[in-house]
Amino acid sequence: MSTFEIAEDDFLLDGRPHRILSGAIHYFRVHPDDWADRIRKARLMGLNTVETYVPWNAHEPQPGEWTAEGALDLARFLRTVQEEGMHAIVRPGPYICAEWDNGGLPAWLFTDPSVGIRRAEPAFLSAVTAFLERVLAIVRPLQVTEGGPVLLVQVENEYGAYGDDKDYLRHLVAVFEGAGITVPLTTVDQPEPAMLENGSLPGLLKTASFGSRSRERLATLREHQPTGPLMCSEFWDGWFDHWGAHHHTTSVEQSAADLDELLSLGASVNIYMFHGGTNFGFTNGANDKGVYQPIVTSYDYDAPLDEAGEPTEKYWVFRDVIAKHAPVPAEEPVVAAAAPAFSVPFLDAVPLFAVASRLGDWQHTDDLPTFDALGHYSGLGLYRTEIDTAEPAVLEFGEVRDRAYVFVGSTRVGVLARDHHDSAITLSPSRGTLTVLVEDQGRVDYGPRIGEPKGLIGPVRLNGEGLRRWSVLPLRLPSLSAVRAELDAAGAAVEREPERLAGPVFARAAFELAEQGTLFLDTTGWGKGFAWVNGFNLGRYWTRGPQETLHVPAPVTRAGRNELVILELESAADATAAFVSEPRLGHTDF
Ligand code: GLA
Repeated sequence: MSTFEIAEDDFLLDGRPHRILSGAIHYFRVHPDDWADRIRKARLMGLNTVETYVPWNAHEPQPGEWTAEGALDLARFLRTVQEEGMHAIVRPGPYICAEWDNGGLPAWLFTDPSVGIRRAEPAFLSAVTAFLERVLAIVRPLQVTEGGPVLLVQVENEYGAYGDDKDYLRHLVAVFEGAGITVPLTTVDQPEPAMLENGSLPGLLKTASFGSRSRERLATLREHQPTGPLMCSEFWDGWFDHWGAHHHTTSVEQSAADLDELLSLGASVNIYMFHGGTNFGFTNGANDKGVYQPIVTSYDYDAPLDEAGEPTEKYWVFRDVIAKHAPVPAEEPVVAAAAPAFSVPFLDAVPLFAVASRLGDWQHTDDLPTFDALGHYSGLGLYRTEIDTAEPAVLEFGEVRDRAYVFVGSTRVGVLARDHHDSAITLSPSRGTLTVLVEDQGRVDYGPRIGEPKGLIGPVRLNGEGLRRWSVLPLRLPSLSAVRAELDAAGAAVEREPERLAGPVFARAAFELAEQGTLFLDTTGWGKGFAWVNGFNLGRYWTRGPQETLHVPAPVTRAGRNELVILELESAADATAAFVSEPRLGHTDF
């Protein structure tokens, strides 16, 4: 049992001044069998604390369907931190931002448009309270005051950049306290006067988020909080990437100098990120400040420990900086050998449309539903209706969220992209089934578009006439068993050893490994889609880049035979899968 308190200038751990040297690792972006390795490497860089957010929408994908096991076993993650002799910081939101789908808020919460977002609206508060009580029941016995590793718990996240509803913040604090959280509560805001004021409450420790000009930013924080320890709760040492833009990096020297300045001023720090990890599956967020910009699969973040858990130059330089201010273990992390490089052909392929009805249930409605209205909160869906037009016709959508592939019969006639603000397409004279395959490319995680529905937003019109009588199929892909069954079955739909891939199509390859290990899947020969190794969804790939490889975590591979499945939505000229020895995150802006 320990005590942890806020004093005039410092944190006090068991009555003695204590500086927090923390690094962010999101357990939900790292394979659970890699947690211990990443946490140890944080300690070996000289850190004494590990920080994580808690993503509500991952823990509760459908209302009341709560899971905190396996890859979401927060208690195991925190105990692993403690076993490494480190402390922990937990930031349960409920809003987390974090370049995560919908900033962590479950999409199902907003199917009733009267539900408020990040404010004291009764339906929102009641759902938030239920969520926080569940998470805090995990955190409470793991506080330092109860013999666990948790030193601090954060309330909301950069709330001052979004709102100023103090009743909302007061409600959250009451829930934290009511759930038995006795360690200090913090808030984080960008060091702007209005944000620092709006984002916090008396009695909570204000902290700041920034990645440069440490002295100036800490001075601003001090103006708004005359006493108490200074803390940067997000020292941004890198940044995230959008599809179609460059790979962001920050200068190692500059970042190290800013960290050094911060530590010289006696501040505590949480390095964001120490190890970024990966947006596996359908989990990435997006930005939209007039143009929709989905976040890529890699959350490498140019962090000290790269996406695959390997120390970078920034790791060693940060370790030297920390050593000027605190003891750093003499032990150094072992650097892994290069990953194996090889290629294999795809062995079989099956069109998505041949397997689709085994991936969900067709639902028939007169009006056009969004994905959300059907309880489908991520990934892909099919919309179908019949059309009959003798003349060239304009097919027009209210809005496409976020990418729509349009087919008449089995012929693909075009694609509409939200990031291009596309909303209409010309059809030649056509009679038959109109099919629209829609990809939700990730929900916006920052700003006022949080909570917006996905799929097709109506009305959909053909030459001005509203189209009705829709059949909609939410594609559920938590497992590939139906896809495998279709690939295994000899049938007209299945193509053996395809030479090229005409999407949308599932394709399967097999490869042998001498031992379990990290792989980097080269996606440059393909168009756009998803990839799975041994049933584990690695996330999205896209020819737009910047990233050109997908990280395959070592624990999903095995010695012997392994399976790769991709869902190619567009096209691949050569039906081959290649693995390369190093990650390739794409071009930078210099
Ligand atoms: C803010 C948020 C984080 C993250 C960073 C950018 O600081 O609090 O969740 O989105 O920006 O990576």
